[in-house]
Amino acid sequence: MASKKALFICLGNICRSPIAEAVFIDEVKKSNQESNWEIDSAAIGSWHVGKDPDRRALATMKKHNLAYNNKARQIQKDDFKHYDYIFGMDEQNIADLKSRCPKDGTAKILMLGDFDPEGDRIIRDPYYDDGSEGFEKCYVQSVRCCKAFLEQVAQN
Ligand code: 4NP
Repeated sequence: MASKKALFICLGNICRSPIAEAVFIDEVKKSNQESNWEIDSAAIGSWHVGKDPDRRALATMKKHNLAYNNKARQIQKDDFKHYDYIFGMDEQNIADLKSRCPKDGTAKILMLGDFDPEGDRIIRDPYYDDGSEGFEKCYVQSVRCCKAFLEQVAQN
């Protein structure tokens, strides 16, 4: 049974949160903690429910040898009770999560970028970009943050 549960959130669940989810799964595997964690991602909005990630997100994950087969879903009320940690990518995600959290929600709502040792707090939305550099940046930020978060959890 997974003893810890983490959910990665962004606006559409097709760009940033799938990358962060795939990176976190990879870091958990590398540190042999796979059986300890349940990991998923979801959207604030419903626009892309059921869809694969954006092709630039998939290309970024492929480039870094990260497998990904999940489809977009929207966050549900029960997620706030089920997950221990819910990570947002920017301030708007955090505000949306806090406003949707039910009274009996127990998850810690955290900004993923707050774990960045380089202090780059915001994982910017690259959806409307022309190219894929924003996706690569999301990947690099996610690696730094996921590693640091895992180290921090291991110490507590
Ligand atoms: P994401 O990017 O939140 O990183 O998945 C977005 C994807 C789609 C939209 C906005 C952001 N959209 O407005 O459809």
